[in-house]
Amino acid sequence: MREHWRLTLIAIVLLGFGTWKLLGMGENVGYSPVQPIPFSHKLHAGDNHIPCQYCHAGVDRSRLAPIPALNVCMGCHAVVAANTAPIKLVAAAYAAKKPIEFTRVYDLPQFVYFQHRWHIAAGIQCQTCHGPVQNMDQIEQVKQWTMAECLNCHRNNDYLPTPNDKYHRDPATFHNRAANAPQDCNVCHN
Ligand code: HEC
Ligand code: HEC
Ligand code: HEC
Ligand code: HEC
Ligand code: HEC
Repeated sequence: MREHWRLTLIAIVLLGFGTWKLLGMGENVGYSPVQPIPFSHKLHAGDNHIPCQYCHAGVDRSRLAPIPALNVCMGCHAVVAANTAPIKLVAAAYAAKKPIEFTRVYDLPQFVYFQHRWHIAAGIQCQTCHGPVQNMDQIEQVKQWTMAECLNCHRNNDYLPTPNDKYHRDPATFHNRAANAPQDCNVCHN
C-alpha cells in the first residue's frame, strides 16, 4: 500500500513537470549568471592549466561536484594577484569565514537522481556534459539536461563497467549489450 502511494506521488510530480515542460519553461541553454566574484575558468583551467579536480575535488567519489571552499583559493591567492580588487574580496570573505554564494548554473529537477561519480568512473570527460569550460570566462550552460539527452548516451555508449558498477555486469558480455548503461525508470527516478 505504501509503495502504491509512493508511485502515485511520483507519477503526479512527473506529470506536473511534463506540463511545465510543454509550456516551454525551464529551457536554460545559454544561462550564464554574473557571479559575486568574476571567477574565470579560462584563466584558471585554460591559461594556467589547473586540473578540474584540483578545485572540484571529490567529484569522482560523490553525487555532487563540490564548489571549492575559499581555503582552496587562498592556497594560491595568499600570494598570487593578492593586491587585485577581486582577490581582496576573496581574502576578506575568507578572513570573516563567510563563504561566497555562487549562483547555480546546472540544476536538475528534484525528482531526478544523478551522481557524478559513476560517470567519472566510466571515463566520461567533464566537457562531454559541460562543454569547453576551459575557454569560458563566465560559466555558461551549454546543454539542457533533458531525459532524452541522458538516455541518448545510456542507450548508445561503449564504456567499460567499473569496479563500483553495482549491477556487477560481466565485462565479457557488457560490450555486446545493445543497452549498456541502465535505462530503468527507477534508476533516475526514485
Ligand atoms: C581554480 C578552481 C577551479 C578550477 C580549476 C575549475 N573550477 Fe569549475 N568552478 C570553480 C568555482 C569557484 C565555481 C563557481 C563559480 C562559477 O560558476 O564560475 C565553478 C563552477 C563550475 C561549474 C558550474 C557549476 C554550476 O553552478 O552548475 C562547472 C560546470 C564547472 N565549474 C566545471 C569545471 C570544469 C569542467 C573544470 C576543468 C576544465 C573546472 N570547473 C575547473 C572553480 C574551479
Ligand atoms: C554525464 C554528464 C556529466 C559529467 C561527465 C560531468 N557532469 Fe557535472 N553536472 C552534470 C549534471 C546533469 C549536473 C546537475 C546535477 C544536479 O542538478 O543534480 C552537474 C553539475 C555540476 C556542478 C554543480 C554542482 C553539482 O554537482 O550539482 C559542477 C561544479 C560540475 N557539475 C562539475 C563537473 C566536473 C568538474 C566534471 C568532471 C570532473 C563534471 N561535472 C562531469 C553532468 C555531468
Ligand atoms: C592553483 C592556484 C590557484 C587557485 C587554487 C586559484 N587561483 Fe585564482 N588565479 C590563479 C592565477 C595563476 C591567476 C592569474 C594571475 C595573473 O594573471 O596575474 C588567478 C587569477 C584570479 C583572479 C583574477 C585576479 C585579477 O587579476 O583581477 C581571480 C578573481 C581569481 N583568480 C579568483 C580565484 C578564486 C575565487 C579561487 C577559488 C575558487 C581561485 N582563484 C583559485 C591561480 C589560482
Ligand atoms: C556520455 C554518456 C552519459 C550521459 C550523457 C549520461 N550518462 Fe548516466 N551513465 C553513463 C554510464 C556509462 C553509466 C554506467 C556507469 C557504470 O556502470 O559504472 C551511467 C550511470 C548512471 C547512473 C547510475 C546507475 C547505477 O548503476 O546506479 C545514473 C543514476 C545515471 N547514469 C543518470 C544519468 C542522468 C540523470 C543523466 C542526465 C542528466 C545521465 N546519466 C547522463 C553514461 C552517461
Ligand atoms: C538516464 C536517466 C533517466 C531515465 C532512465 C529515465 N528518466 Fe525520466 N527524466 C530524466 C531527466 C533528467 C528528466 C528531467 C528532464 C528535464 O529537466 O528536462 C526526466 C523527466 C521525466 C518526466 C517529466 C516530463 C519530461 O519528459 O521531461 C517523466 C514523465 C519521466 N521522466 C518519466 C520516465 C519514465 C516513465 C522512465 C522509464 C521508462 C524514465 N523517465 C527514465 C532522466 C531519466
